[in-house]
Formats: sequence, C-alpha cells, structure tokens
Amino acid sequence: MGAEFLRHAINSFDTTGAISPSSRKLSREVARAVDLKRAKVVVELGPGTGAVTEKILRRISPSTLFFALEVNKSFIRSTKRRCPGTIVYHDSAANIRKYLDMHGAPGCDCIISGLPWACFTTKMQLQILRAVRDCLNPGGEFVMSSYIHGQILPKGLRFKRNFRRVFPKFKTTKAVWWNMPPAFVFYARK
Ligand SMILES: C[S@@+](CC[C@H](N)C(=O)[O-])C[C@H]1O[C@@H](n2cnc3c(N)ncnc32)[C@H](O)[C@@H]1O
Repeated sequence: MGAEFLRHAINSFDTTGAISPSSRKLSREVARAVDLKRAKVVVELGPGTGAVTEKILRRISPSTLFFALEVNKSFIRSTKRRCPGTIVYHDSAANIRKYLDMHGAPGCDCIISGLPWACFTTKMQLQILRAVRDCLNPGGEFVMSSYIHGQILPKGLRFKRNFRRVFPKFKTTKAVWWNMPPAFVFYARK
C-alpha cells in the first residue's frame, strides 16, 4: 500500500497530497476523535488506501450508513480490497449531498476527511468545507488530519483561515509525531 501511495504521490501530488498513508497511530486518533459508536450516518472523504477506513469500520455499528468519496480509481480498488463491503463512490468530496440524497439520508452525524486541503484552491476549499457544514446534522462532528508543516507554510495557513471562516470554533489535538509527516487532528462540531 505504501508503494502504491508513493507512486500516486509522484504522479499526481496535487490530488494525493502526501507521500504515505496515515500511520496506524494517526488513523486511530482521527477515528477516536468523533463519536462513531452512536453515529447513524458517517461519510469519509478521501480514504486513499483505507488506513482510516479500517479504523472507522471497527467503531461504527452494523446499522450505520457509511460510505466514502474518492477521486482516484486505484485508491478505490485498494480501499475496497482492504475493507470489503465498503461503499466508495468515485466522485469529489464536494458532492456529498448527492450521495446522502441517494441513500435517503437528510444529513450525517460524522464526516471524516483525509483530503489534501493545502493542494486545493481557496474556492475549492470553501466549496468542500461548506458542503461538509451543510451536510452535517445539528451537533454533527467533523474531523480531519493536517500535517505539521501546514501550520507554518503559506498554503497551510491559507487553509486554516478558510477553515475558520466555515467552522469558527474548532479544536486541534496535540501533534501526532508517529506519522510521516507528523500531523494534528482538527475537530469541529456544527
Ligand atoms: C493525503 S491522502 C489521505 C488518504 C487516507 N485518508 C490516509 O489518511 O491515508 C488524500 C486523499 O484524498 C483524495 N482526494 C483528493 N481530492 C479529493 C476530492 N476532491 N474528493 C475526494 N477525494 C479526494 C486523494 O485521492 C487521496 O486518496
């Protein structure tokens, strides 16, 4: 999975946004940050090779509606191989609403993102962040990882500003050092 990830990072860094999948430690921190046990509808954005998906599946109940949106077809195959039975749609995170409607779900309780935000334009960041906010039920939770260099590099800081525009109150965890590169977990509640 690591080799596959690196290949995509080299060929299309603008959508992959990392050189390796999230570590077990980071994946666990992300999945633990939200109340997956009680969630009835959960959506993952950008599952990649399924590192976080695997942790989500361990926590949700069998009756939870869970699906993911991923733009890379090869990653979709990897996630489905790693997490059999998982629904992964080939589409952009911007279109969450379409898939909730398809499943007859008015909103979702948790949205978990592995998206490479710093690679997106401001327009796209805001479009996806607003789609996330609008699709969350009241009290719904949003969690995502953000690499440590995003705290100082202009692209990361631009994203943080846009994130705050849509989710004015958000929290970050301590850095998760056991990841390449180290990362923070961002958490917001609607
Ligand atoms: C940094 S990787 C994270 C992968 C995985 N969540 C992990 O933690 O290992 C970013 C993922 O987001 C996907 N992605 C990029 N843009 C996307 C978009 N607009 N909608 C859905 N997925 C997207 C990429 O193809 C890639 O799988």
